[in-house]
Order: sequence, then C-alpha cells, then structure tokens
Amino acid sequence: MSKQFDVIVIGGGPGGYIAAIRAAQLGFNVACIDEWKNAKGGPALGGTCTNVGCIPSKALLQSSEHYEHAGHHFADHGIDVKGLSLDVGRMIARKDTVVKQNNDGIVYLFKKNKVTFFHGRGSFAAAKDGLYDIKVAPAATGAAEETITGKHIVVATGSNARSLPGAPFDEENILSNDGALRMAAVPKKLGLIGSGVIGLEMGSVWRRLGAEVTVLEGLPTFLGAVDQQIAKEAHKAFTKQGLKIELGVKVGEVKSGKKGVSVAYTDAKGEAQTLEVDKLIISIGRVANTVGLAPEAVGLKLDERGAIVVDGECKTNLPNVWAVGDVVRGPMLAHKAEEEGVAVAERIAGQHGHVNFNTIPWVIYTSPEIAWVGQTEEQLKAAGRAYKSGTFPFMANGRARALGDTTGMVKMLADAATDEILGVHIVGPMASELIAECVVAMEFRASSEDIARICHAHPSLSEATKEAALAVDKRTLNF
Ligand code: FAD
Ligand code: NAI
Repeated sequence: MSKQFDVIVIGGGPGGYIAAIRAAQLGFNVACIDEWKNAKGGPALGGTCTNVGCIPSKALLQSSEHYEHAGHHFADHGIDVKGLSLDVGRMIARKDTVVKQNNDGIVYLFKKNKVTFFHGRGSFAAAKDGLYDIKVAPAATGAAEETITGKHIVVATGSNARSLPGAPFDEENILSNDGALRMAAVPKKLGLIGSGVIGLEMGSVWRRLGAEVTVLEGLPTFLGAVDQQIAKEAHKAFTKQGLKIELGVKVGEVKSGKKGVSVAYTDAKGEAQTLEVDKLIISIGRVANTVGLAPEAVGLKLDERGAIVVDGECKTNLPNVWAVGDVVRGPMLAHKAEEEGVAVAERIAGQHGHVNFNTIPWVIYTSPEIAWVGQTEEQLKAAGRAYKSGTFPFMANGRARALGDTTGMVKMLADAATDEILGVHIVGPMASELIAECVVAMEFRASSEDIARICHAHPSLSEATKEAALAVDKRTLNF
C-alpha cells in the first residue's frame, strides 16, 4: 500500500514549505515534495526564493553595496582605502553559503515539525475515493519511483523566467535570474531587457561592481506600477548612478556569439539601434510553472497563461486541491506565497485563514530602496477617490544626514474625509524596513493622524514617516 498523508504539498518554495509547516503545526500528517537540486545533486529546499531569487539577490546587493561604499563613499567619512580590489569568485561563494544556510534551515524546520520530505518531482497520477495519488520521480539517479496518497493536495510549483522569443536562455551569454546571480566575472558591458524589479536589482549589482549597464524597457513609463512621484525620484537617482535606462523601445533580433550579444531595437523616436554587450539579462516577467505536474491526469484547470485557476481562497476546480504562490494569480512575491500557504493550511483545518491583498507590501532592494503598500496617487485619481497627500524628504531627516544617504522621500496618501491611510510610498534608505510600520497601520485602518501622534525614536529614519503623516495635515515640524 502506498504511503498515506493528510496533506501533500508539491513544491518546497516559500508557498509550499510554509504551507507544509503550518499544516503540521495544526496536527496533520504532512509530506512535501520538492525537486530542486544543489550543485552536488542533493536537495535545496526553498524554491526560487532561496536558490535563485530573494536570498541570493539580496546577498549580492549587500556585497556590491559594500564595494561601492568602500570605493566611493568611505572617503567622505575620512576613511581612505588603498588598493581596493574585487574577488567576484569569493563574493559569489559567500552568496552560495548564504543560500545553503537557508536551504539547511528548511531541512531543520521540516524535521522539527515532522514534515516528511521527498526529493523529486511530484505529479498527479489519479484521483479516487476522495484521495489523490501523487507519483514521486526521485531526483537521485537510480532511486525507485514511488506513489504516495493524500487527502488534501497543495500545489506550490512556483514560476520560471519568461524568455524572449528567438533568444532562449543559455545562462552563458543570455541570462535569466539564475545566470545573472552567478557570473564568474564582471562583464564590461551588460545589457538588460526589462526595467522591472529584477532588471533594477541585478542592474544595480553589476553596475556597482563596474559593469557599464544599459536597460532596455518596452513601456514608455518607468516603473508604471509604482507611484509616479516616487518612480521619477528613483529614475533620477539610478540615472545619476550611471544606469542607462532606455524607455519605450521595441526589441528586435537578439544575436549571441563568441564575442557577446547584439540586440537590435527601435528606440522611442522610432530609430533603429543596436546594443552590443558581453552579457544580456532578460528580465521581462515570470510564468507560472506546471511542468511535469500532469494536471491533465486529474483535470486540474489552468488559465490561458498556464497559471492554476483558483478562487479567492486558493481552491482549484478539484475538491481538496489547493494552489498557492507564483503558480496562481496575484503578485509574484515570496511573502504573498507564504501568506497563502498559511491561509490554506488553516482552511484545511476548518479555520478562517485570510490574506489581505490590499496590504501586501512591495520592495525593490536597489539604492535608494523603493517600497510601497496600498494605492498609488494615480490609482486614487483613476478611481475618483478624494484624497490628501503628504510628503517628507529624507534630506530633512537627521538620521539620513548622519548616514550620508538623503535621497528620496516618504509619501502618505489618506482619505480626504476620514483620514484613513490609503497608501504609503517610500524611496530612500531602508525603505524595506520603514514600510512595515505602514503595513501595520493600514491593517489596523489607522488614520494619518494616528501615525502623526505616535512617538517615533529620534534620530531615526522612521521620523520621516511621522513627518509625512504630519504633512498630510500640512503641519510638518522639520521641513
Ligand atoms: P517557488 O519559490 O518558485 O518554489 C517552487 C518550488 O517547487 C521549486 O523549488 C521547484 O523546484 C518546485 N517544483 C516545481 N514543480 C515541481 C514538481 N512537479 N515536483 C516537485 N517540485 C516542484 N520576492 C520577494 O517577495 N522578495 C524579493 O526580494 C524577491 N526577490 C526575487 C529575486 C529574483 C531574482 C527572483 C527571480 C524572484 C524574486 N522574488 C522575490 C519572487 C519570489 O522568489 C517568488 O515570488 C517566490 O519564490 C514564489 O514562491 P513559490 O513557493 O510560489 O514558488
Ligand atoms: P517585472 O514584471 O517586474 O518587470 C518586467 C519588465 O519588463 C516590465 O517593466 C515590462 O514592461 C518589461 N518588458 C516585458 N516585455 C518586454 C519586452 N519584450 N521588451 C522590453 N521590455 C519588456 O518582471 P521581472 O523583473 O522579470 O521580475 C519578475 C517578478 O519577480 C517580479 O514582478 C516580482 O514579482 C518578482 N521579484 C520580486 C522582487 C522583490 O520583491 N524585490 C525582486 C525580483 C523579482
């Protein structure tokens, strides 16, 4: 007889491993299947996020920022660095160590929570008597295939990088996020297609390390989903740093050869151009991944883009089959995947798990960082909502001056009548940390006056949030 589980989770990224742990905490007998392999062929739990996403990108952003500071900003503090040099191999090795610590951490968490882990590819085999048979093709060569049976199935198979037609990823010259995170040397010239989140984060890493970076973006607007006042400030800062961003281009033929990559494109004025680079990163979004899952074996419904169709509670068209994270609709963010994983485990236990899509924060970990929660000014205008706005520049914040990082601002938007906070948008130092207070405020439906009346430590960057709240009522104290 096959091994039986209450809950089988397919995929061990942030959506899957968190769903598995929460289900185990709730008393279920849980299995999690994940196929990711490390360099030695062993398991590497944590999915895209841990292996080729959030964690390694932040590790390299940190390392490259140290390098930039040592080379360009330490002198302002009276610290002279002589003979500064860069060892890309060691930087990448440190990043790999950070990744491994996270991989191992999840193995430990599975043991602690008694989640049974299968290293291999899970696919639907059959549905019968209210149970699902899941085939596990082992990742290790020579190991035997087995079938396990579960009452509830949670699909968390994530996403893959979208490729550009005619320019398949070879991870040598034409790179996805994977290759972009493990280049052996700094390319002299680096091209990126797509000035979205990956384009800006990866472009920043390699620019700081010395590459000449050009980003080609199809849309005429920079960071169209971001509040445009914030996006303009960020664009100014990135351009000043030397990131070349061309908007409104139409990318044509991409040719890859021994000498590098050439990209033919039409610029915003309609003129034909060619970009010659040593390496090209393509970061034009991601597509839901159901490769090898065999959804057809049980009639699991996908939409026209290949994502698994779910309702607001992550229920698929099949009883007791759920799907979470990048493989379903909604923002492709690790914390969104995690929240859905927790909510699904709680729903399986008969509880009322909930994800508030209005308060999911976004962060772009460039320098300056960009972070936001809630609605942008453009969205409020389009919805015809009456609002008040307050901004406060980091230039007027004592801690930012002491840090030597005064770019950017905090912008708060509140309902004109009730003063409820509708959105907060930050570009500047540690925006990723500052946004947490704003998420909490919005979850508790705070008014801007609430934030303005709360005591914030001095000197701290968070005082800029308080001042932006005061600015909503036109009474900043320090500007
Ligand atoms: P994934 O993390 O993709 O995990 C899916 C897992 O399922 C993988 O391990 C895969 O191998 C496995 N799998 C797939 N099919 C099968 C199968 N049939 N059988 C067994 N296993 C299978 N988000 C943030 O919130 N913050 C960030 O800073 C951030 N940075 C990012 C940087 C980069 C470069 C990239 C590419 C992404 C970044 N993201 C970030 C997005 C984030 O990585 C994803 O939103 C998140 O990983 C989605 O989690 P998931 O569990 O849905 O899927
Ligand atoms: P993205 O959706 O953020 O940006 C893609 C960009 O490419 C867009 O600006 C789009 O207009 C442009 N584009 C699309 N097709 C094009 C074409 N043919 N030519 C030129 N430009 C084109 O996608 P990205 O950067 O690939 O990242 C994927 C996702 O991964 C993000 O949306 C996000 O969900 C997640 N992520 C999150 C991070 C974070 O939270 N800090 C970091 C990195 C990724």
